[in-house]
Amino acid sequence: MRRTLIAGNWKMNGNLAANSSLLSELLAAPIDSENEVLVCVPSLYISQCASVLAKTSIGYGAQDVSAHQSGAYTGEVSSAMLADFSCQYVIVGHSERRAYHHESNDLVAQKALQALRSNICPIVCVGETLEQREAGKTNEVVITQLRAVMDVLDDGALARIVVAYEPVWAIGTGKTATPAMAQEVHAVLRLTLAERSVFASDKVRILYGGSMKPDNAKELLAMPDIDGGLIGGASLKSGDFLAIINAA
Ligand code: G3H
Repeated sequence: MRRTLIAGNWKMNGNLAANSSLLSELLAAPIDSENEVLVCVPSLYISQCASVLAKTSIGYGAQDVSAHQSGAYTGEVSSAMLADFSCQYVIVGHSERRAYHHESNDLVAQKALQALRSNICPIVCVGETLEQREAGKTNEVVITQLRAVMDVLDDGALARIVVAYEPVWAIGTGKTATPAMAQEVHAVLRLTLAERSVFASDKVRILYGGSMKPDNAKELLAMPDIDGGLIGGASLKSGDFLAIINAA
């Protein structure tokens, strides 16, 4: 019922020439239209994606957005600006932004709200650190992160978001949550959504992110509450990204 979403997060990688090659390789490959494919790129390259990916089956999005509508916020990019370039998605609350830019749950919630106001789907990232997992706090952490976003959205808006569960200890480390570990947290997140709206909990796609690779994607994506992936490193190599797409 929920369409699988395979989203690449290029992070701060790429340049005009490398992006052009990567996108051409992706566009040349057969992609099962049952799955949705997306690349989230540095803001500067959104216009490149807008021209290369327009009218193709690959969507594009940003990696962050301002919590403000417009004004004196030097260096920030607003949701309206992203919408100007037909961005369909934006990642909010990635653990790298939470850690390096001290983004709070409330700020992430405001960013999600701003994105939705411009008709852009926020991909809301949640996830625990290794320390939190070892202290048995995984569920508490992810529920708190998700609830902060739920608190600022009405039921209709809530049904339009995407959630990404990304255990911090699995990001870029080669350590992946086992399918069972990931499924357990995804089920908790789905239940949290259902406490507010069963409609939203059925609709919202919950992606897994954290060292998803061609060799582990199939098993992860086979889990009932894993509706896709948010892929970092492996999205920079067309062969690996396509293998993950085809594993879905
Ligand atoms: O947004 C993507 C995640 O941070 C996962 O990155 O696939 O390199 O572990 P990774």
